[in-house]
Amino acid sequence: MDDRSFVAAQDFLLASKTYWTKRIYPELKKTYETAAGAAPAPPETPAEVAALLEGEVLYRYFSWLERHLQRFKYAGRYGLVPYHDERRAALSAELRDTDAELAPGLEMPNYYQRVDIHQHPGGVWSDELDGYVYERGARSTTPLMGAAHGDLHHRFTDLVAARGGAKDILDMGCGFGKSTHPFCTSFPTARVEAIDLSGPCVSLGAHDAQTKGSGNVRFRQMNAYETDYDDGSFDLVTSTMVIHELPPREIERMFTEAARVLAPGGRMAHLDFYTIDGPFARFIHYGHGRRNNEPFMQPLAEMDLHASLTEKGFTNIEVIPFKEAEGVGESGNDAWRFPWTVIMAEKMP
Ligand SMILES: C[S@@+](CC[C@H](N)C(=O)[O-])C[C@H]1O[C@@H](n2cnc3c(N)ncnc32)[C@H](O)[C@@H]1O
Repeated sequence: MDDRSFVAAQDFLLASKTYWTKRIYPELKKTYETAAGAAPAPPETPAEVAALLEGEVLYRYFSWLERHLQRFKYAGRYGLVPYHDERRAALSAELRDTDAELAPGLEMPNYYQRVDIHQHPGGVWSDELDGYVYERGARSTTPLMGAAHGDLHHRFTDLVAARGGAKDILDMGCGFGKSTHPFCTSFPTARVEAIDLSGPCVSLGAHDAQTKGSGNVRFRQMNAYETDYDDGSFDLVTSTMVIHELPPREIERMFTEAARVLAPGGRMAHLDFYTIDGPFARFIHYGHGRRNNEPFMQPLAEMDLHASLTEKGFTNIEVIPFKEAEGVGESGNDAWRFPWTVIMAEKMP
């Protein structure tokens, strides 16, 4: 397949997603508000919202688009998987000489193997080109709202940097390094360790870091809740869009591990999906988790993070909604967006 056809098809999918989020979602919300207004009592739970909406053609159309636009992105004639497969020899050669530290025998947790996360066939870890497929797919995951979505990671890093410096940083679940590189540039004198279960992703992260000349980072294939770092070896532990991919028991283990590797007084900062306003937003978010093969979104949203972090010895816990880009969430902008949330805490001194 030629590049032009591939790019055109992927752009079409992104435009369709933009239509889905900016046009279909606000219509669905209006339909819900009308139905809720006519109901004997306002819905209080996602199940009550489901009872009102699941029979609606508009809701089915919304759900179908959400599930299948994402599926088309990967598969089919112009999908990410066949496109990269055709370029396998050249792409795999690019990854051959990276200094990523791979762990070929690393056990992949059950939750990680059982679900094709984001509908990515085989997940982000089972094929050597998965880092590339994930990287290209990330560019059309969230429709742009007038601002570059890449800014999201920088906005988060800026927020963390505004709270203070750091010398030793651990990025848990770094993927192909999109969350790591802003930390490398915002904290140029820090040592940055970037870890992920996916070998293909850390390989691409290391390749890009070499290309960009980021000398202060090391990419390693490792489980975030079972690292080999010494106690107290970091003053900042971070993650971006990772927690919601783990079941609650593994989230607890990840926080316990973060507490262990942080020095006393060190801090943690995570960007994820957590604070959700009202039963309709919950219904849509939980449905997104099901439709996009992200089964642990709902369990995370129902966890008591404050209690969990307090129990592990964290203090100054903050759970704050995060604006992904200027203008998003303001009145007149009714598009569906993820419930971005920053979770920050400090290890007791
Ligand atoms: C949505 S991606 C986010 C990647 C990156 N932080 C970013 O912002 O682009 C989630 C990442 O978490 C990784 N992951 C999931 N469970 C993990 C675990 N137990 N340990 C390390 N990484 C994990 C996945 O392999 C994936 O790369």
